Amino acid sequence: MNPLRPVILAAADSSRMKRALTGTKVTAEIVRRFVAGDDRAELLPVAAELRTSGRMVSVDFLGENTTDRAQADATVAEYRALITDLAAAGPESRTGGAIPMEVSVKLSALGQALSVDGPAIATDNLRTLCRAAAEAGVWVTVDAEDHTTTAATLATVRALRPEFPWLGAVLQAYLHRTESDCAELAGPGSRIRLCKGAYREPREVAFQRGNEVTDSYLRCLDVLMRGDGYPMVATHDPVLVLAAEQLVAETGRATDTFEHQMLYGIRDAEQLRLAGAGLTMRVYVPYGSQWYGYLTRRLAERPANLTFFLRALVGS
Ligand code: FDA
Repeated sequence: MNPLRPVILAAADSSRMKRALTGTKVTAEIVRRFVAGDDRAELLPVAAELRTSGRMVSVDFLGENTTDRAQADATVAEYRALITDLAAAGPESRTGGAIPMEVSVKLSALGQALSVDGPAIATDNLRTLCRAAAEAGVWVTVDAEDHTTTAATLATVRALRPEFPWLGAVLQAYLHRTESDCAELAGPGSRIRLCKGAYREPREVAFQRGNEVTDSYLRCLDVLMRGDGYPMVATHDPVLVLAAEQLVAETGRATDTFEHQMLYGIRDAEQLRLAGAGLTMRVYVPYGSQWYGYLTRRLAERPANLTFFLRALVGS
């Protein structure tokens, strides 16, 4: 893992940094690389273009840590409209048949962080979205946020899965708990998106070194690939992409029982290579104006981006 990541993530928390980064021309160019647009009108052509290139999409309406009930309700309304628009575009096709479009959602955007009854409100809001998604033939996957939310988030997923068995969950390989979460959640049809993890976490709960995180990812991937679920291999790391290919060959897993997933704007050529090889490649496509948290996590993944942060701070 990039050794500067915690430094960048810590700097990103400051309101001074937020002011320095918001609204500059350089920032706007970087935002455009990682974020598909400010609204659905800008998002939809981007999603259509990705689909034309043989890739599938999972769309995220940006927003997190909502502390206002009205904002959580507005997020639900936007997701419902998004689900309708995605459904109108039809399911995605791949070898072996059609496959649903997908939305990704953060429970903290649905009210999980509200001071009174946050987790229950987020669960109710997610249920509302899942009902709309089920009607439209769209999948939903719940993003993973910082470790203080993991137990509540997985509790919500467990509560809704009996009604919506296709509801996906994200697990973060950097957390010590994740290998056992993988084992618990790798049941029949269970859609699990495995990523390394993007937040600044203490050593008590998370591996800190890059090689430890990679090793944990490999152990978790092994559990998921040998299980009965539907693993979603969310990484750009060539070592892990190769490991997934080897595990698929070793276990004889059919190509329509797992997906590769990458983020919009990252390793485009590799995305096309995997899609061209007949594998399911789903791109996580964010849109919306609340891009600050998402962007700073993307920047923190690349040491080269430290300069950008420092320049912004000095120039502010
Ligand atoms: P790693 O960071 O080692 O990157 C491998 C290579 O990919 C790099 O060498 C570089 O070439 C390229 N790369 C990676 N990040 C880049 C960047 N920002 N800019 C340019 N190139 C880059 N996390 C989380 O905590 N909760 C979540 O819900 C999700 N959801 C999610 C969905 C999907 C579909 C993906 C792909 C990822 C997430 N993540 C996430 C983010 C994830 O945890 C992780 O931070 C990033 O994917 C980066 O880790 P990699 O596995 O790609 O490896």
